[in-house]
Amino acid sequence: MQPQPAHRLDGIELSLIRQINALATPLCVNLGIGEPNVEPDETLREFAVRAASTGSWHYTANAGTLALRKLIAAGSAGVPPAAEQNLAKNGGLDARAPRQFPTPEFDPKSEVCIAAGTEEALFSIFQAYVDPGDEVLVPNPGFVSYATLARIAGATPVPYNLDPSDWRLDVDALLKRITPKTKLIIVNSPSNPLGSVIDRATLQRIADAGPLVVSDEVYREIWYAAPPPSMLGMADNVIVVGGMSKSHAMTGLRLGWVLASEAVMKPIVTAHQYVATCASAFSQSLAESILSDDAWNQSWLDRIRAQFRAQRETALFSVERELEVTIPPPAGAFYAFVPVPACDTVVFAKTLATDAAVLVIPGIAFGSMGEGFVRISYAASLDAIGTGIERIGRWLRAGGR
Ligand SMILES: Cc1ncc(COP(=O)(O)O)c(C=O)c1O
Repeated sequence: MQPQPAHRLDGIELSLIRQINALATPLCVNLGIGEPNVEPDETLREFAVRAASTGSWHYTANAGTLALRKLIAAGSAGVPPAAEQNLAKNGGLDARAPRQFPTPEFDPKSEVCIAAGTEEALFSIFQAYVDPGDEVLVPNPGFVSYATLARIAGATPVPYNLDPSDWRLDVDALLKRITPKTKLIIVNSPSNPLGSVIDRATLQRIADAGPLVVSDEVYREIWYAAPPPSMLGMADNVIVVGGMSKSHAMTGLRLGWVLASEAVMKPIVTAHQYVATCASAFSQSLAESILSDDAWNQSWLDRIRAQFRAQRETALFSVERELEVTIPPPAGAFYAFVPVPACDTVVFAKTLATDAAVLVIPGIAFGSMGEGFVRISYAASLDAIGTGIERIGRWLRAGGR
């Protein structure tokens, strides 16, 4: 007899993203991917060799090595003040905006926790704070995990809508959705799947609303005109999560973190202990080398931003020429959320994969507001982006749906 899975998994399947990616064949142009098309350079590989040969292979403290926690608390994982000041001078940032770094007084001993990726950080936060019957406010469209993690914890995900076409967050509408049952508000900027960024004033209003806020800043380093504002230090009820999957193309090495005030952090570390014990000691040593070499790290980040900028231009140009739509240029991350003429974008994406050998993710995978759109990832070579979008255009003109 088939064992009965726990009811907490009722209705929960592998995400649509995984299902669509499973349709990939060697001939497919894959614009469905959620990870950077970047390989480690020589220095990054040297750091990894050093971490493997001289780093510890033992358990670390549950919250991670103190050395790495100190680097993260000190803001090494964020925008350096010099870059922010230059951008402000050049009009790229609001010069009146409060400085983000150094990170506002996070104590590495009690207010930083290293996790096995941002996903594990999120899981631990939900396990630490969300009870059956609670409500969790999640963006719609938004990253698939948020609603699923709420359901696994027995809570109800309550979507707050982001409206096309600029996907602006209507903060008044969000605040109206808060009830006595609201346990967490999830914010994601830059956004997967939208590439949109939330302005500082809006973030502050959410921080001031009352409930715990989780700010998912895993795409924080992937920006175009200006660094996105962070929620770090906005209020004691704000939990910031981030990681190195996107900034350093380390998706397989599972390295993320949580920053929160001591009282808020305590139960998160407890939950994290029973999920992961600690993040990989190797990945922590590697992250420590990366964040200790500020000059190299900044040049790496500049280089990957330049690469994504070129890929974004190609994607926007191809979308306009081949699909005849103009979308607001994504301000961060590496996704374009593009309207398509289809009544069911799951069928659209599946047929496109089999008929035209291009993978994109149906917008509905990110919530009801995503219907009518597909997510095109431009974390792909310029050639793949151009060819893939051209194939979609040709297929649509030939009557494909
Ligand atoms: C918005 C968002 N948050 C979190 C994650 C998980 O990242 P990690 O690899 O750090 O677990 C992803 C991965 O795609 C993401 O898009």
